[in-house]
Amino acid sequence: MKIAIIGCGYVGSAVAQLWSQKGHQLTVTTTTPERVSELQNITPQVVVMKGNDSQAMQDVLQNQEVVLLSVGDRYRTGYKQTYLETAQTLVAALKQTPTVKQIIYTASYSVYGDKNGEWVDENSPVTPSTESGKILHETEEVLLSASTPQQPVCILRLGGIYGPGRELVKIFSRWEGQTRPGSGDDVTNWIHLDDIVGALEFAREKRLQGIYNLVSNVPMISRELLDGLHKYQGLEKIYWDPSTSSTRPFNARVSNQKLRNEGFKLIHPEIKINIGSTI
Ligand SMILES: NC(=O)c1ccc[n+]([C@@H]2O[C@H](COP(=O)([O-])OP(=O)(O)OC[C@H]3O[C@@H](n4cnc5c(N)ncnc54)[C@H](OP(=O)(O)O)[C@@H]3O)[C@@H](O)[C@H]2O)c1
Repeated sequence: MKIAIIGCGYVGSAVAQLWSQKGHQLTVTTTTPERVSELQNITPQVVVMKGNDSQAMQDVLQNQEVVLLSVGDRYRTGYKQTYLETAQTLVAALKQTPTVKQIIYTASYSVYGDKNGEWVDENSPVTPSTESGKILHETEEVLLSASTPQQPVCILRLGGIYGPGRELVKIFSRWEGQTRPGSGDDVTNWIHLDDIVGALEFAREKRLQGIYNLVSNVPMISRELLDGLHKYQGLEKIYWDPSTSSTRPFNARVSNQKLRNEGFKLIHPEIKINIGSTI
């Protein structure tokens, strides 16, 4: 198939490698000219563009069959430009590109907001509690409004990403030795890079349409996760101050049952903190 990856970063590059090995023809984008040679190791078709560039978007989408949207705001140019304007530009360009048979978007579970640690699924109301969460929700709406039987849109709401180079120990090392606000009772949801790659391939193969949560089977309480990383993975101890309120705006147990009901199987269904290797 001809596949375009708009935003070929950590996730995009990992799935691009799989799709390239499977013989698909890839076009990938970056905003950084210095990344072109690195990405050319995966595919010769690398385009430097911003998602809100209508002409560049139309050119990239020409003759494509699948589009993966996997942008991230690493350079802090703002969620509006990175997510919303890219989605709007993509949707406008789709009208001129009938060859596209599916759009997949890597979204975030942060749109659920603070649900007081309750279980949520794809039918639960979204109540994003931050400005960025609201923009992410708007981005989903823009993409879903363009979903048709001919061009189905699949939205995967990812948990926090961990994997090679983004180990949990590394992610939380910035908190080492600190006292964090709250009791640490809030719930976090995670997804390993291997399972994101697996789910993107699964969504492509099954031509999934609609919203699917993409998190591991077992949500983790912050305190238990960090205590485990301290005990088994060498992270310095992190303390909690229950006299203050948690600053985490997301607190929900996210169910992945819908995706599993489709037949998707995770490689890392839960975080095993006490294993020998670094996670
Ligand atoms: N990180 C998490 O824990 C987490 C949690 C939930 C969901 N997600 C979602 O997972 C997805 C993938 O994350 P990731 O870690 O792979 O992100 P990443 O490594 O930061 O890659 C993001 C890609 O988007 C490109 N990009 C940034 N701004 C852009 C713009 N305005 N127009 C076009 N492209 C732009 C970047 O360009 P450059 O190549 O120039 O850097 C990069 O290729 C994101 O959509 C994010 O919302 C992440």
